[in-house]
Amino acid sequence: MVTVRPLDSPDAEQFKAMRLLAADNAPTAIRPTRQEEFAHSIEEIAGRIRSTPTQAVFGAFAGELLVGITGVRREPLCQVKHKATIWGVFVDPSYRGRGIAQMLLAAATAHASEEWGTIQLMLCVNAENLPAKRLYASYGFRTFGVEPRAMKVGDRFYDEEHMFKQLV
Ligand SMILES: CC(C)(COP(=O)(O)OP(=O)(O)OC[C@H]1O[C@@H](n2cnc3c(N)ncnc32)[C@H](O)[C@@H]1OP(=O)(O)O)[C@@H](O)C(=O)NCCC(=O)NCCS
Repeated sequence: MVTVRPLDSPDAEQFKAMRLLAADNAPTAIRPTRQEEFAHSIEEIAGRIRSTPTQAVFGAFAGELLVGITGVRREPLCQVKHKATIWGVFVDPSYRGRGIAQMLLAAATAHASEEWGTIQLMLCVNAENLPAKRLYASYGFRTFGVEPRAMKVGDRFYDEEHMFKQLV
């Protein structure tokens, strides 16, 4: 059985390992590169995953094993604090197709809505990433714009779709 919970400092080693796997497995979907991710110390990562009034990171666990992650951060300024951004959605390839990404999105959404009062979610997705686009569309996200050449991986450019979902 897979369960989802917020990550905290003791999860930093597993989170780092999952981010390195994501950099290797999905370099056109997940930023940054393996080298950039590797440069972060465990202390920095502990700070990046700890829940604060403006950020939270959720992990999906099969027993004690971290098999999926997603982050959510809230805009701090008054005029934009009704919005939160979903980032870093990644599921271990051996655990895909079981609804884990949906569970992670649901946990991040509940947190943004109930803890922060957020009423709108934002995210960006590589325009060529069809599984992720289907995931977000099935979860109620709609595309409102496309950034041409948003990302360059090797010598190829990729456009990014900007999506949003109204919670109320
Ligand atoms: C995209 C990703 C997060 C989906 O994770 P997952 O746990 O397999 O997704 P789920 O099982 O929760 O699937 C939910 C929905 O996503 C869509 N989906 C997921 N995988 C898909 C695939 N390979 N092809 C088409 N649609 C897919 C479907 O709509 C699916 O709903 P359905 O099963 O009712 O058809 C996973 O493939 C992944 O980690 N990819 C690499 C990283 C990435 O692209 N992240 C997104 C960055 S923006």
